[in-house]
Amino acid sequence: MSKNPRVAVVGATGAVGREMLKTLEERNFPASEVVAFASAKSAGVKLPFMGGELTVRELKEDSFIGFDLALFSAGGATSEKFAPLAAKAGCVVVDNSSAWRMDPGTPLVVPEVNPDDLSWHKGIIANPNCSTIQMVVALKPLHDEATIKRVVVSTYQAVSGTGQKAIAELEAQVSQLFNGLEVEPKVYPHQIAFNCLPQIDVFLENGYTKEEMKMVLETKKIMGDDSIQVTATTVRVPVFYGHSESLNVEFEQDLSPDEARMLLSRAPGVTVVDFPEKKAYPMAIDAAGQDDVFVGRIRRDETIAHGLNLWVVADNIRKGAALNAVQIAEVLLKRNILRVPK
Ligand code: A2P
Repeated sequence: MSKNPRVAVVGATGAVGREMLKTLEERNFPASEVVAFASAKSAGVKLPFMGGELTVRELKEDSFIGFDLALFSAGGATSEKFAPLAAKAGCVVVDNSSAWRMDPGTPLVVPEVNPDDLSWHKGIIANPNCSTIQMVVALKPLHDEATIKRVVVSTYQAVSGTGQKAIAELEAQVSQLFNGLEVEPKVYPHQIAFNCLPQIDVFLENGYTKEEMKMVLETKKIMGDDSIQVTATTVRVPVFYGHSESLNVEFEQDLSPDEARMLLSRAPGVTVVDFPEKKAYPMAIDAAGQDDVFVGRIRRDETIAHGLNLWVVADNIRKGAALNAVQIAEVLLKRNILRVPK
């Protein structure tokens, strides 16, 4: 492509959509134009962008004519219907929903891990689940060195991952409880304020939630290695921004905590914060608003031959969603593959 791409942001009024606009602006993404789309109810809403305002348009079937790139974050149903229409109109889609992630014809990409998978895109590229993204960014440099056999992950996930309504629900519940009022959960099945919910998304027949199985399946696809065993427990916690994860990793070969720290400190997109003597470790409140994946509490699992424990934190709306999508678009541009193959 010789000219700068025309970019559609679909779901622009949502938590991730707003962050996508911010990320395009902050990274000075070379767009010839950025247009914001959402549902009919948001048509006409103004969103701040580049010192001015964008007027939100209603997403329609013919919305993608004349666009080169669409960043989708409007839920699975919208992606299922509109992403193929966009690709048909010659517009490459980077989709944040789970609709296309496990489709064998759709690359699932984290630029620090598997950028080369972008070479076989057919017009739609899937952005992985937020908790999977930060986990694989931390695991990849360790896997390359010592080959991961198994990962046991427990997550502590912020409400922003559920969208604007969930952010509002936590805010409302905190204030209701302080004022002695009853809370009425709407977004989550139970009270989220001052609570932890060991359920993210729906339960499946095997007793795991959909979120847990996303971490299992997406990790194998992104890492390009079906032999990596992952077992997950995903938990929603009353935090606004930033997912935290406890990882227990078993390797084929020995890897000392010092070697892991060295590998991670050289890895793209990773910052190591691991000074227990100074009480310094990654925390959601520090990761919020940051681009990197933060890793700390690196120590041996003393119960197995080759095992490490890690604590991994990232801003789920940025690296877990908007930033990863924009980074994908940047690689497409750099490699001159921002086009739908004929
Ligand atoms: P709207 O605000 O008009 O409902 P979040 O994940 O924070 O809830 O945001 C979801 C985003 O997806 C919002 O921008 C929402 O727009 C958008 N969206 C939901 N359904 C549709 C749809 N059918 N067409 C276009 N955008 C949609």
